[in-house]
Amino acid sequence: MANKKVCIVGASGKLGRYMVQHALDREYEVVGVCREKSVPKLDGFKGRMTIVSGSTNDRAVIEKAVAGCDGVLTVLVPWGMQHYATGTAQAVMDFARPDARLIFSCGWHISLDGKDVYSWQLKLFEKVFGWIGRATRMADIRDQVEACRRIFASDTRWTVVRGSDLKEGESQGLPVWSRHVGDPILASNLTHRIDFALFMVAALEDDSLIREAPAIVGCQTPSALNAAGSGR
Ligand SMILES: NC(=O)c1ccc[n+]([C@@H]2O[C@H](COP(=O)([O-])OP(=O)(O)OC[C@H]3O[C@@H](n4cnc5c(N)ncnc54)[C@H](OP(=O)(O)O)[C@@H]3O)[C@@H](O)[C@H]2O)c1
Repeated sequence: MANKKVCIVGASGKLGRYMVQHALDREYEVVGVCREKSVPKLDGFKGRMTIVSGSTNDRAVIEKAVAGCDGVLTVLVPWGMQHYATGTAQAVMDFARPDARLIFSCGWHISLDGKDVYSWQLKLFEKVFGWIGRATRMADIRDQVEACRRIFASDTRWTVVRGSDLKEGESQGLPVWSRHVGDPILASNLTHRIDFALFMVAALEDDSLIREAPAIVGCQTPSALNAAGSGR
């Protein structure tokens, strides 16, 4: 997809900035969307990308940003109680070209087909985080669930990339993935954020991931290496 144009929605965040770098490395033309106050976080890319500032759930902002794009990478975040993630996802699906590749980020807690098997720690974390988020009105995890439900039901060329726990660090390479949480390959539950971004950007050119919700884990983690050693 060299010389193609991609939009990164949520470009100023940690994941977003890694995606901008990977997209520029591939010589894509990059348009980034971020809140007005976060524009300075993209200063390091000045002159190498176009920035459209505004809320990512502002339909006019998204319409302008995704115009003519071959792919859209969206950081889905459930901030606030105003259906931010749902508004963002819906606007991207409504305004992106029908043939555009749409890649969305979320966590393992989202399930495409209900066949994921979650540890009690993960279930507890989701419950506690969900409760605290709603009590403080800072985040509504149900909004991210609804956003993904709409994406799964759409006939767009979507991929929802489900991230494990994240940490900063150098790239270890493209993460490995499974259709279902609970698969032993994912047991280490850790991915370097730079590689989460790498998977998102690589998915733009991987049509085998269309309408998949890969749950990812770092390719150098013990569980990924064990699976590779046992011939998976
Ligand atoms: N953190 C984890 O451990 C983890 C694990 C699995 C999956 N994920 C997924 O990874 C993706 C990125 O998450 P991240 O934790 O790594 O964070 P991140 O990359 O720093 O992204 C946070 C995003 O939220 C925006 N944001 C922050 N506060 C906001 C507010 N009050 N209103 C509107 N937007 C706001 C940020 O924009 P500004 O730059 O404007 O602040 C940024 O675009 C998400 O889809 C998340 O579900 C995260």
